[in-house]
Amino acid sequence: MTIFAIIFYSAIFLSSLFSYYMFKKKKRRHKTRARLPPGSMGLPCIGETLQMYTQDPNVFFASKQKRYGDIFKTRILGYPCVMLASPEAARFVLVSHAHLFKPTYPKSKEKLIGPSALFFHTGNYHACMRKLVQTSFSPEVTRKLIPDIERLAISSLESWDNGQVINTFDAMKKFAFEVGILSIFGHLNKKYTDLLKKNYSILEKGYNCFPLKLPGTAYHKSLMARKRLNQILGKIVRERKENKLSANNLLGYLLNFRDEKGNTLSEETIADNIIGVLFAAQDTTASVLTWILKYLSDDPKLLVAVKGEQKAICESEFGENRSLTWAMTRNMPLTYRVILESLRKASVISFTFREAAVDVEYEGYLIPKGWKVMPLFRNIHHNPEFFADPGNFDPFRFENPPKPFTYMPFGSGMHACPGNELAKLEMLVLLHHLLTKYRWELVGSANLIQYNPFPIPENGLGARFTKEI
Ligand code: HEM
Repeated sequence: MTIFAIIFYSAIFLSSLFSYYMFKKKKRRHKTRARLPPGSMGLPCIGETLQMYTQDPNVFFASKQKRYGDIFKTRILGYPCVMLASPEAARFVLVSHAHLFKPTYPKSKEKLIGPSALFFHTGNYHACMRKLVQTSFSPEVTRKLIPDIERLAISSLESWDNGQVINTFDAMKKFAFEVGILSIFGHLNKKYTDLLKKNYSILEKGYNCFPLKLPGTAYHKSLMARKRLNQILGKIVRERKENKLSANNLLGYLLNFRDEKGNTLSEETIADNIIGVLFAAQDTTASVLTWILKYLSDDPKLLVAVKGEQKAICESEFGENRSLTWAMTRNMPLTYRVILESLRKASVISFTFREAAVDVEYEGYLIPKGWKVMPLFRNIHHNPEFFADPGNFDPFRFENPPKPFTYMPFGSGMHACPGNELAKLEMLVLLHHLLTKYRWELVGSANLIQYNPFPIPENGLGARFTKEI
């Protein structure tokens, strides 16, 4: 080897060594510069889980934000978490840097809903399933459901007018479930609807209980009900395949799906996604509807105004007995704003969970890999900087659109709610018939909040419904 070659190779070796040293140093500096956010981790293991699920969420989250700022750490359900209470941070986690975070749910819940449900996934599988779900709940498809949603709303209301005190939340759950079934299957044989209803009501009791698999426990009963649901859904799927019914509903889209190799979806994948949609659709919509009735009862002047808007629709050119049309549902500005404001004030999804897939640095703070990350929708919706006098129920504030990322009742980014248009449509249809034909009086106290785990007025809002003559 010549002297030049020796010098050349030595120079390359030394410069590589130097670059490696500088790289390590930079990495070390990066690691030491970012620090964990402020906050308290609470008790060993359970952390602050009890406080979070039992205290008024406005008080729990807001007191932490006041003390520590918009980003703080805690421990929930045994996991270290970083909570984020600013629109910029929510945008960072859910949209601009969403690839650094993945959705995360307790394993016990994943098992009950079904591991192939789209919201547990990211990447190609998620994108593919999401496209199917989004198409089946698009306005083009759901607008055709209006006559059937109306039929369900009318029969629900008739069944509540029986002189008895109704648990409003339970009644709204039944309605939301039936609309869910309609949007998933189209028309479904009553025998199957009843079987699904019966078994789903056992399944859902296991979502938030201790995951003990011993016979007799709620979790075990729930697992058994999930097995039966698989069998029922399998039967429906096979019947639809035999009858070659191609339909414009979620099941139709799932059955027609072919990947690039021509493969279809398995029965398990279809079942998991159907149960997933029922899970996402029922309690959310029912709790918002319950809050709407509470907020309207608390503000008699507003109630008169919303009734006026709805009665005017009946008396307008469309005539009293005509069914609702899509155009009519697009022409209910005050009722629509009541829904928007209820979604803000009640913030039934107070936050969502993600998990950091790698170490992430945000605003000089370190979010370590594996830590849970929680964008706090409720705090943002109740921040006076974005919504003046946030404790006040004021639908008129929505005459002006909220600033970006300050209003996220349906989330944001690639996991944002694909059912949001359907949810708003079914609420408008039910409210139309309620406000034009019925009055209701609240029975018992409804001033406390109950967590189910969604916040609802205490005792599900007891009310007596009467048809107006
Ligand atoms: C007022 C009622 C509703 C509210 C407040 C609501 C809220 C939300 C929110 C906040 C998310 C995002 C969760 C996250 O980012 O982790 C979400 C996701 C989802 N929602 Fe809704 N939702 C409602 C009704 C519905 C309905 C009626 C359906 C279906 C018919 C539905 C289906 C879904 C599905 C499938 C997802 C998961 C999407 C994905 O991971 O890509 N939701 N919902």
